[in-house]
Amino acid sequence: MVKQKGNSTRCVHAGRTHDAATGGVMPAIHQSSTFAYPAMRKAPEHIYTRISNPTRNALERAVTELEGGSRTFAFASGMAASTAVLELLEPGDHIIGPANVYGGSFNMLRAAGEARFEVSYAHQNEGPQALEAAWRKNTRLVWMETPSNPLMHITDLKAAAALCAAKGAISCVDSTLATPLATQPLALGCDISMHSITKYIAGHSDVLGGTLTVSNDDLADRLLKVRNRTGGVLAPLDSYLALRGLKTMELRVRRQFANAQQVARALQEHAKVSQVHYPGLEDHPQHELASRQMDGFGAIVTIRLTGGTEAPERMLNALELFTIAESLGGIESLVGFPPRMSHSAMTQEARQAAGITGNLVRLSCGIEDAADLIADLRRALKNA
Ligand SMILES: Cc1ncc(COP(=O)(O)O)c(C=O)c1O
Repeated sequence: MVKQKGNSTRCVHAGRTHDAATGGVMPAIHQSSTFAYPAMRKAPEHIYTRISNPTRNALERAVTELEGGSRTFAFASGMAASTAVLELLEPGDHIIGPANVYGGSFNMLRAAGEARFEVSYAHQNEGPQALEAAWRKNTRLVWMETPSNPLMHITDLKAAAALCAAKGAISCVDSTLATPLATQPLALGCDISMHSITKYIAGHSDVLGGTLTVSNDDLADRLLKVRNRTGGVLAPLDSYLALRGLKTMELRVRRQFANAQQVARALQEHAKVSQVHYPGLEDHPQHELASRQMDGFGAIVTIRLTGGTEAPERMLNALELFTIAESLGGIESLVGFPPRMSHSAMTQEARQAAGITGNLVRLSCGIEDAADLIADLRRALKNA
């Protein structure tokens, strides 16, 4: 029923999260590892928090409703969620990853390739033909990330999902930078939508977490077994905080997207900036695809500076409103230097191949006033 409503209504009401026992408008934080059996042979609804917990279930119901899937699993971090997907595979299976991907995910895929699986990479933003060219007879998983971190590449999810379905591979997309409001990977045919809820869903830089929402009950059954076995679940307090954040996601994220669009436009004109990567700009190579696939273009703006190798450091140190920090997606604006921060786990060659060069600066736009953010950037760029 909630699905037909507007996004703000959906965020507030998704998952019917009132506390059934007391009528509490917000769910209780069930800070208990285990639950009492009324009698031997009479198992309670929840048995043990690694398997299920009422507070975590409330968050999972809400995310499922927003993502439109069969079931959601919440994990202790985005990386714990991503790693659980690999547990669905058999040794020797082949994974196709994206050429530009979050550094931690690159690290995960590289380690997977060195251990149990075959891993190769494709420029997925170039379309399904790039995936077809990378396909092997043992390809079982296509790992996607759109928009990609930090270059904001956009992958055509409908085309990629159709290819995966036809060839019998799982399509999994890290949809963190899109948020559940801008892209609905499962409606486009993908099997799994992954979020680092550390970012936009929780939204206040105070929680680490990840979710996987699956399109069908078979995958749900398989992932439930993986999660029960591996145990990287989201804690009750963090589940509560993420749910509280989720309820205001529409307000926050729309403001952040609007700020990013204005920041991107302002920097496009700037003499110290040679390139702006933002899918909301008409000159972005996948602007047309992003306009079709997304409702809004995200809140990350990545720029290349014209100055020498010292320019990013000079700019970052001169910023006042943008805090230098890892992460993104919170209400406060953050700035990062991908080669030394979010993508430092990549090898120099992999960074070079992905286009993560030494003049790149990643801006995560918060909910501050756009004019103040732009003034801060212009002032700092004088030093760059
Ligand atoms: C796109 C993307 N995916 C996954 C992650 C990993 O999430 P977490 O830090 O919650 O493990 C991040 C973290 O920065 C990210 O930016």
